[in-house]
Amino acid sequence: MAEIAQEGPEDYHEVEALYDLCFAPGREALSSYRLRDGVAPQADLCLIARGRAGEVAGAIRTWPVRIGRHGALLLGPVAVHPTRQGEGLGGLLIFEVIARARTAGHPRMMLVGDAPYYSRFGFERLDGVIMPPPTNPERVLGIALAPGAWEGLRGEVARAAGDGSAMTD
Ligand SMILES: CC(C)(COP(=O)(O)OP(=O)(O)OC[C@H]1O[C@@H](n2cnc3c(N)ncnc32)[C@H](O)[C@@H]1OP(=O)(O)O)[C@@H](O)C(=O)NCCC(=O)NCCS
Repeated sequence: MAEIAQEGPEDYHEVEALYDLCFAPGREALSSYRLRDGVAPQADLCLIARGRAGEVAGAIRTWPVRIGRHGALLLGPVAVHPTRQGEGLGGLLIFEVIARARTAGHPRMMLVGDAPYYSRFGFERLDGVIMPPPTNPERVLGIALAPGAWEGLRGEVARAAGDGSAMTD
């Protein structure tokens, strides 16, 4: 269907072009981008799906964030080229990132997105986990990669880097 690979520096502009094509203009004004500003992405969890001609047909990126002293992964953006949507590429990329994150020992992952789409991967509404405004709380979703990893975890989601404070997991 497509070849999955880790995004490399040489892929950056092609992935950005795909995101520009798939999202409304001004995507970088979304609150989730404030959590990514100045923070390096989780490189091993940024994947691309290449089509037969070598083109980037789908892409997914992941960033570290924190809730208090607890680390989490922020999934997204994920996008599939309009000519390739509905073939399962988006699902393939999301399942692959979840599997790699679990293998790497990350306890929890979250995203801002449509529950009807992401529930199929195991994402559920996160009560009390607050994204920077304006974010609809109904769209704040999470998946535990280790049992009970979201239990009792509440608070504001913040940038992973910048204030030098320690994290417990
Ligand atoms: C969302 C996206 C990544 C899905 O990729 P894809 O390769 O088309 O997805 P898949 O083929 O794995 O899955 C397709 C299924 O998801 C459903 N789906 C796609 N987007 C959905 C949404 N926002 N809400 C509910 N269901 C959705 C499709 O209807 C289809 O359903 P079916 O399996 O019952 O036919 C792709 O549509 C895309 O790039 N959209 C524009 C960018 C975007 O919105 N990204 C997500 C931000 S939250």
